Amino acid sequence: MSSVRDQGVTDSAVSTDAAIVYVCITCRHPGEPESEPRPGAILAAATAKAAEGSGVVIKPVRCLANCTRGLSAVVRCNGCWTYVFGGLDVACGPALVDGARLLACAADGIMPWRGRPQPLKRGLIARVPPVNFEELE
Ligand code: FES
Repeated sequence: MSSVRDQGVTDSAVSTDAAIVYVCITCRHPGEPESEPRPGAILAAATAKAAEGSGVVIKPVRCLANCTRGLSAVVRCNGCWTYVFGGLDVACGPALVDGARLLACAADGIMPWRGRPQPLKRGLIARVPPVNFEELE
């Protein structure tokens, strides 16, 4: 079987304002024995395939410290909130790409709930504000 990198996942530096999806390649489903390839690596490869031609960048990461909550990924874009997802499955690649595209187009930097793929609704773990965020009181 080819490696994740062979399947279009990049781990090189990104210098654009593209939306980025970090997919944990070491994730496995809770309670399942270790297996190769890891389900997270399969999800990363599927996400990379779904992202072809979309402008969304897919990057592998080894552990997002969300291990007990199933397959995990992060969607981020400069100037936007960053979203952590869990409970994903190997078929969620297109949902991650769709979510990243929604985020990249969001004028307020928030991934809209309306139109957000279901796995990104039920799998939301946290969102993190952008670097220069200030809460208006
Ligand atoms: S192994 Fe995927 S979040 Fe820890």
